[in-house]
Amino acid sequence: MTSVDPDAQSRSDAPRRIRRSAPSSGSLGETVVSAEQLAARVRELGAQITSDYADELDDRPLVLVGVLKGAFMFLADLVRSIDLATEIDFMAVASYGSATRTSGVVRIVKDLDADLYDRHVILVEDIVDTGLTLRYLRKNLKVRHPASLEVCALLVRDGPQRPDPALRYEGFRIPPDFVVGYGLDHAERHRNLPDVRTMGEP
Ligand code: IMP
Ligand code: MG
Repeated sequence: MTSVDPDAQSRSDAPRRIRRSAPSSGSLGETVVSAEQLAARVRELGAQITSDYADELDDRPLVLVGVLKGAFMFLADLVRSIDLATEIDFMAVASYGSATRTSGVVRIVKDLDADLYDRHVILVEDIVDTGLTLRYLRKNLKVRHPASLEVCALLVRDGPQRPDPALRYEGFRIPPDFVVGYGLDHAERHRNLPDVRTMGEP
């Protein structure tokens, strides 16, 4: 069982700082972004998207494309914070590499159902690390000739490589540690955690 430190949940003053909390299970580490911080930031992103696209959409809904599986929870919350006509669709990709590292070689496991031609599209990602997955997906979606294509990433890992400068919507910058929760996994585990946490010491 995993429980979340209730104290950490109630403090929402420092959205981009690691807060130390005792690991609640052997394999989990500290909370990086609490459930409350996630909820508040997702609402802000939804409000920003709502105002940015309010005058852009003609008669066709905004298309949100979630990248499975990691973005499923973020997309579910984000779409409820957007006060516009929307459609959602999903793509599933697999990147070759180890559990905690991507190789940059991406394979589409499930493609979209929607035709993106002449549509306003936002690609919704869980986390941008090296940016290789995002670069691949952008290129892949661009050739379908959407009216516009932007990216909304919940987490961006700080690192030596600059993330995509064209990243329009960004939730949180996080330190280099591998994280799980709120949709993100390690070997398919921990996606159901309500907040984003590091993995603990083995
Ligand atoms: P990138 O291609 O290096 O930017 O890696 C992006 C993808 O790797 C994300 O969509 C995740 O699926 C996965 N990933 C990268 N970092 C993490 C992490 O800390 N936790 C869980 N998945 C991650
Ligand atoms: Mg992913």
